[in-house]
Amino acid sequence: MKLAISGKGGVGKTTFSSLLIRTLNEMGKHVLAIDADPDANLAAAVGIADADKVIPISEMKTLIYERTEAQPGSIGGYFKLNPKVDDLPDALSARFENIKLMRLGGVKKGGSGCICPESTLLKMLVTHIVLARNEVVVMDMEAGIEHLGRGTARAVNRLLVVVEPGRRSIETAGHIRHLADDIGLKNIALIGNKIRNDQDEAFLKENLPGFDFLGFLPYEDALIEADLTGKSPFDIDSKSKERVKEIIGRL
Ligand SMILES: Nc1ncnc2c1ncn2[C@@H]1O[C@H](COP(=O)(O)OP(=O)(O)OP(=O)(O)O)[C@@H](O)[C@H]1O
Ligand SMILES: [Mg+2]
Repeated sequence: MKLAISGKGGVGKTTFSSLLIRTLNEMGKHVLAIDADPDANLAAAVGIADADKVIPISEMKTLIYERTEAQPGSIGGYFKLNPKVDDLPDALSARFENIKLMRLGGVKKGGSGCICPESTLLKMLVTHIVLARNEVVVMDMEAGIEHLGRGTARAVNRLLVVVEPGRRSIETAGHIRHLADDIGLKNIALIGNKIRNDQDEAFLKENLPGFDFLGFLPYEDALIEADLTGKSPFDIDSKSKERVKEIIGRL
């Protein structure tokens, strides 16, 4: 099963992803967790010790040079378009029980449509992970689906878009659906997060007609507290854990 998580900034993508990853782990699944958001820290949310020491692939300059035969940051020169990547998930991931986690990191864009060695390596890596790995894959992404393309769309079982009660989060969900349509990714479902009451849930359902809701997570101070103290949302007492189990049952 391959799952991609997207949504507006701050809606709870990383919180939800980490709960999903830890719950699947607890169920005995092997999970490959991909932190595809340059600003995110999925490792800390999953509960990996020394999370800040997990180096993003895009910053592994020697690796990028070895695999693409070009210096990272170089644009327009010659480099391998099909670098070897199949060994990277096992060689480079951080571990927690049955979870392997990789941080992709960001690629600085030098103008539109830039193709550089590091972006080529990341794209190949994501394609390999989505098409060829056997584990459950959970990818925590940005407000877009940049790492996915036509070739990988059909292998993604679900694109889960996290939404919160708010106009901009709803607009972003619409935008993400367009991006998904463009690459032929049809299996989208929504997760309503930060739900304070029935009105919040009704607001989302009313304003997102034609979307499939897979579940709702309550607004919980405990989740903010976990974030502030650097704990995994899974390692605290929270009602959202039960909701996430139900969501997995519906996948
Ligand atoms: N259900 C919830 N109730 C209360 N607070 C929440 C809930 N879910 C997430 N939060 C809080 O909202 C903030 C943003 O959450 P999170 O980092 O998971 O969002 P994100 O979508 O990954 O953000 P970013 O776009 O910055 O990566 C955090 O402080 C988190 O603790
Ligand atoms: Mg995040």
